[in-house]
Amino acid sequence: MNLLILGANSDVAYAVAGAFAGHEKASILLASRNMELLEKKVQDLTIRYGVEVSCCRFDVTDFESHASFYASLATKPDVVVYSAGYMPATQEEAQKNYKEALKILAVNFSGAAAMLEVIAADFERRGHGTIIGISSVAGERGRQSNYIYGSSKAAFNAYLSGMRNRLCRRGVHVMTVLPGFIHTKMTEGLDLPGLLTAKPEEVAEDIYRAFRKKKDILYTKWFWRWIMAVIKGIPEMVFKRMSL
Ligand SMILES: NC(=O)c1ccc[n+]([C@@H]2O[C@H](COP(=O)([O-])OP(=O)(O)OC[C@H]3O[C@@H](n4cnc5c(N)ncnc54)[C@H](OP(=O)(O)O)[C@@H]3O)[C@@H](O)[C@H]2O)c1
Repeated sequence: MNLLILGANSDVAYAVAGAFAGHEKASILLASRNMELLEKKVQDLTIRYGVEVSCCRFDVTDFESHASFYASLATKPDVVVYSAGYMPATQEEAQKNYKEALKILAVNFSGAAAMLEVIAADFERRGHGTIIGISSVAGERGRQSNYIYGSSKAAFNAYLSGMRNRLCRRGVHVMTVLPGFIHTKMTEGLDLPGLLTAKPEEVAEDIYRAFRKKKDILYTKWFWRWIMAVIKGIPEMVFKRMSL
């Protein structure tokens, strides 16, 4: 199996690479912006799992490069994981500066959609492939403290849902991953509730198991399905007055 990870410097991505290397002996291509970090990860994964791992530069906000990036891949992937993400420590800057808001939207949604469309066309032509999009439970209901990031994830959820609907009769599977809190560099410095916060390795194992089962939507950890059901059930009249 050939696995391509987009945004591969993410802590979750690294754990996902480990899960696919360990369980599937997959050949892995790590794509992201910081090449120095990626090269260290290539070495780590090669030594730990004895699988073929390589890396290449990829910036999802460079829309013009998407088609040539994909065309340049000598071996086309069977599975693609989209794991790039951007969430600033606070939303304030994005409220004041549209460029910051556009960056959130580009990394979490519009860039992802533009890149995945190129890959989906190839998968559709070949009649097989799996696209795994790492989104967030933040996309399920907008909160005052994080609604710009949340809306980028809501758009990504709708996008993945439509793409799944389009490609399910073409041999192509699309899985939406909805994580809750995870201990990663994205959440460093945030005061997260310990019991509700997962390690990247736990999320990665959930993603691998769900991939094997061809799940459409994965909440990870599992209890977020129920937490979000409660949050979505709160009437707007009440929700708008809550400090979330
Ligand atoms: N951590 C959480 O609590 C949490 C919760 C729910 C959902 N998620 C989602 O899960 C995914 C993984 O999150 P994480 O916590 O593992 O993130 P992370 O460790 O902060 O890593 C995010 C990665 O995204 C990459 N990235 C950012 N901008 C990019 C760009 N323009 N082009 C290519 N790559 C870019 C960066 O790679 P470079 O270093 O190469 O720039 C960075 O390493 C994200 O989609 C995130 O939104 C996270």
